[in-house]
Amino acid sequence: MRNKEFGNLGFKTSVFGMGCMRLPQIKTADGHKIDEAEAIKMIRYAIDHGVSYIDTAYDYHNGKSEVVVGKALKDGYREKTKLTTKLPPWHVETREDFGRLLDEQLARLEVDYLDFYLLHALNAERWKRLKELNVLGFMEEMVKVGKIKHIGFSFHDELSAFKEIIDDCNWDLCQIQLNFLDGKIQAGVEGLRYAGSKGIPVVIMEPLKGGKLAQNIPDDVLALWDQAAEKRSPVEWAFRWLYNFPEIAVILSGVSNMEQLKDNIRIFADAQPNVMTAKEIKLVRKVKELYESKTKVPCTGCEYCIPCPQGVAIPRVFTLYNNAFIYDNKEEPAQNYKRLSEKEQDASHCVQCGACEQACPQSIQIIKQLKEAHKVLA
Ligand SMILES: NC(=O)c1ccc[n+]([C@@H]2O[C@H](COP(=O)([O-])OP(=O)(O)OC[C@H]3O[C@@H](n4cnc5c(N)ncnc54)[C@H](OP(=O)(O)O)[C@@H]3O)[C@@H](O)[C@H]2O)c1
Repeated sequence: MRNKEFGNLGFKTSVFGMGCMRLPQIKTADGHKIDEAEAIKMIRYAIDHGVSYIDTAYDYHNGKSEVVVGKALKDGYREKTKLTTKLPPWHVETREDFGRLLDEQLARLEVDYLDFYLLHALNAERWKRLKELNVLGFMEEMVKVGKIKHIGFSFHDELSAFKEIIDDCNWDLCQIQLNFLDGKIQAGVEGLRYAGSKGIPVVIMEPLKGGKLAQNIPDDVLALWDQAAEKRSPVEWAFRWLYNFPEIAVILSGVSNMEQLKDNIRIFADAQPNVMTAKEIKLVRKVKELYESKTKVPCTGCEYCIPCPQGVAIPRVFTLYNNAFIYDNKEEPAQNYKRLSEKEQDASHCVQCGACEQACPQSIQIIKQLKEAHKVLA
């Protein structure tokens, strides 16, 4: 397993980080729950094979991820890893909630301290509210009393908000969504380089776009990957594109079975930066362009069009519509669209007022495209 200095904090971590948001599950009478025995086996297998960074959060698996991670880290495993969990801003109403949540998380994980405590899924609005509640004062206090070693944040918003948050504090790390299709989405490659220029180690989430770059790959995409001189699986290409960036400290991989875990551990055995040849970079660009050519609506998810007066979740509808064609799979987007319909946010609620079209910086014919999307997804 390839290890790397974690910024200038004075220790190394594995480049592969175990993401604990997609642990193996078993069916129950009323849904699903974590297959605890298998999840513990997988986490320990990862650590036994050199993985030294574990990522969980308060809400993963309805609060059970932290509990299972805590069980997996018994019997000497805690000492072999850097443990991260996250403060959920949406459960915070008053400043007192900070301490209550952290203590609850330490109890669930059955540990005395966290190596990294992140503010979860920050955006401009959440950051403003947390700052007003003096979250940084709280974090500093917790570092002093030893409940937290290092502080950071994970992020889902526009690049400008990312830069602002980065500039606001001496962060020890940050976590962003990145994969070769999302280089210009949210913080993106520019955000990665910005954090890197300030010496802040970056941890990557959703490296396989939640699995979309790993499974059900369209035949024409597979044919393109096959043009490479050295054959690699789509999963290997997606990870390779990421570990090539020197600014990246850890790539979090969510795995839902042992086979995936073993495959990814193999891929990270020699995950070195700056290894991609010009030909390889060109090939990834071609694959990206092919995926993008299957895109029906050039929506960038900037959300200028919302709130829609009728409550239509316009960017979400377009994401589902695009996904149906990009990944050649209508079933999953249609199921998610049904959930939007249950919340009365689907395209059928459009009354053609046109407010969205005036706001759209991409000049998308939103009214027309919503109708098309509804035909495909409903
Ligand atoms: N802070 C935040 O806001 C935030 C948000 C998202 C994620 N995260 C963290 O980042 C971690 C990584 O994100 P992610 O889970 O979305 O990662 P990801 O790597 O983009 O997607 C993981 C999924 O990819 C598929 N997969 C993984 N390895 C595979 C392989 N070798 N072959 C075939 N399929 C494979 C599996 O899908 P199936 O399960 O469908 O088989 C797996 O569940 C999360 O687990 C979580 O810890 C944080």
